[in-house]
Amino acid sequence: MNYKKLGNTDINVSTICLGTMTWGEQNTQDEGFEQMDFALDRGVNFWDTAELYSVPPKEETFGKTEIIIGNWFEKTKKRNKVILATKVAGPSRKYIRGGGNNYTLNKMTEALDNSLKRLKTDYIDLYQLHWPERNTNMFGKLGYVHDENEEWNKFEDILDHLSKFIKDGKIRDIGLSNETPWGVSRYLNLAENNNLPRMMSVQNPYSLLNRSYEVGLAEISIRDKVGLLAYSPLASGYLTGKYRNNQMPKNSRLERDGDFWTRYNKPNTVKAVDNYYEISKKHDLNFTKMSIKFCEIQPFITSVIIGATSMDQLKTNIESVNINLTDEVISEINEVQKIYPNPCP
Ligand SMILES: NC(=O)c1ccc[n+]([C@@H]2O[C@H](COP(=O)([O-])OP(=O)(O)OC[C@H]3O[C@@H](n4cnc5c(N)ncnc54)[C@H](OP(=O)(O)O)[C@@H]3O)[C@@H](O)[C@H]2O)c1
Repeated sequence: MNYKKLGNTDINVSTICLGTMTWGEQNTQDEGFEQMDFALDRGVNFWDTAELYSVPPKEETFGKTEIIIGNWFEKTKKRNKVILATKVAGPSRKYIRGGGNNYTLNKMTEALDNSLKRLKTDYIDLYQLHWPERNTNMFGKLGYVHDENEEWNKFEDILDHLSKFIKDGKIRDIGLSNETPWGVSRYLNLAENNNLPRMMSVQNPYSLLNRSYEVGLAEISIRDKVGLLAYSPLASGYLTGKYRNNQMPKNSRLERDGDFWTRYNKPNTVKAVDNYYEISKKHDLNFTKMSIKFCEIQPFITSVIIGATSMDQLKTNIESVNINLTDEVISEINEVQKIYPNPCP
């Protein structure tokens, strides 16, 4: 396994991070336990969850993934072996603390205390804001509609709440998710100028089908030591090749919940995937591993958050760290990117 520092902290996190969002829905607790045992054994010390999980989000499964992880900590007594990241939900459905904006002191305190209880721990290593409260472009949305009268909690107030949680020993560090260059820069500036805690990571999507992070945020990640935690590196599974030639494998994400997972079902997805697949075959590389490794080697990335629904998938995804992408492979990948730039932003 490879390791990098989280933000400008001294915390070493594995460059493969264990994603967990299918546990409690598509995967059982036992399957989650098996994944945690295996991943930790392979040096994956960084795990990502959220109060919202499992997904697709539903009232009855809210918090279920955290419960599974908490049960594993209780059973194995290995909490101290893991750098644990979770998230407080953004403006949300009615069943999450009544809906609406979520980053007030009261709501965040309630969210954090409940996460700690479910996770059966007294601290979170990385506490992330799952998505911004303001209306901005996230989850693949394009076009920006500005509303002068929109209201959200001030960034400095949110940082103040997070600072309190750090002082109370409930969290160690903080991070953003689904943020824009404007949001990340503003949080960093406010922290620096007001002696507030600084964001250590940005958890946004990144894959061969969506390299939009490279446009604005990559520079911020490197210059300001606020690395990307890249989610959906396989674009929901498209970048394994499993949906090529109109295949729809039984019990796959798209077969189960295709109406929910529309983000990667775009006009140029199939053509781009076919082209990347051909590169992997030409160079005798496993396509899934090539797709993940391409993310892992990016200098602005701290860790790649993988998701797996079986042990075979988990093994393949973790083993991606061991392959090498030659300059020739990278340059062929970049040629495809020129033809199909970010088909799934
Ligand atoms: N911050 C956010 O808003 C956000 C959003 C999304 C994800 N995340 C985080 O990132 C993690 C990973 O995201 P993701 O699940 O969307 O990642 P992904 O890599 O895009 O997709 C993972 C899915 O692809 C399929 N797959 C994975 N490995 C495979 C393999 N080797 N062979 C064949 N199929 C394979 C599995 O689905 P099937 O087996 O069902 O087909 C798996 O659930 C999540 O668990 C979560 O922690 C965060």
